[in-house]
Amino acid sequence: MNIVFLGPPGAGKGTQAETISNTKGLLHISTGDLLRQAVKDGTSTGVSAKEYMEKGLLVPDDVVLNIIAERISSDDHKHGFVLDGFPRTLVQAKALDETLRNIGERLDVVFYFAVSEDTAIQRLSGRRTCKTCGANYHVQYIPPLKEGICDKCGGQLYQRTDDKPETIAKRLRVYKEQTEGLIDYYKRNKVLKEVKGDWDVDKTYRMITKVLETIPKHHRRHKEESFLGDNSEIYS
Ligand code: AP5
Repeated sequence: MNIVFLGPPGAGKGTQAETISNTKGLLHISTGDLLRQAVKDGTSTGVSAKEYMEKGLLVPDDVVLNIIAERISSDDHKHGFVLDGFPRTLVQAKALDETLRNIGERLDVVFYFAVSEDTAIQRLSGRRTCKTCGANYHVQYIPPLKEGICDKCGGQLYQRTDDKPETIAKRLRVYKEQTEGLIDYYKRNKVLKEVKGDWDVDKTYRMITKVLETIPKHHRRHKEESFLGDNSEIYS
């Protein structure tokens, strides 16, 4: 099963993608994580992406599409994948459709995390991430047992450089201008499911799981088969 998590920065996409991919045996593909890794490794992709990311801007489509094409055509997603933070532009969405068509697959469902700007700001400003394993915490909502230390691996927690107030504001603006239009795109393609963004982590997880249970487990299939029909819905 192939899933996209769509929504503004701080909506909780990464948190849910991590859990859902583990419980469902899906490959978690986060373009943000892949780009941060490329920056850390100093690869040519990382060098060109760094300046955009620090400013809260989108990395150019061609750079992101190269990374995604590589991951999706690899053979390690036999049960499917969760795309987290991709696509973010219409060009990326169309390229994804084409890539999937070429390998005889399609998107089963796109979860749109509908959070208000205030919630997104609160979540991003309190986020802490583990330097070692990448686990996410929130100083208020999901605090670690010991301040500054990851519960899972004992690594140090840090605040992402793009989680500073001025960069958060920029990222939210960029989301509105360049990504929000994808909600209509996926509504038209009849695969959109809206998740209430102010739910807590467990309730959100249960709702996503409930929707996924309605999707048959076949992964590779004929491209014209439709599992969701035309029932795009809002869950509240
Ligand atoms: P990326 O890393 O993808 O950042 P983002 O989309 O801005 O998303 P975030 O990771 O900030 O938030 P999230 O929705 O995953 O929330 P999370 O689960 O962490 O991208 C970074 C940059 O890379 C971009 O700005 C761009 O430059 C570049 N980039 C990436 N993809 C690109 C693409 N496709 N095209 C072009 N450029 C691209 O949760 C946030 C916080 O809230 C955490 O602290 C968490 O613990 C907490 N939390 C989560 N859920 C809940 C809940 N239900 N209740 C309370 N707290 C919660």
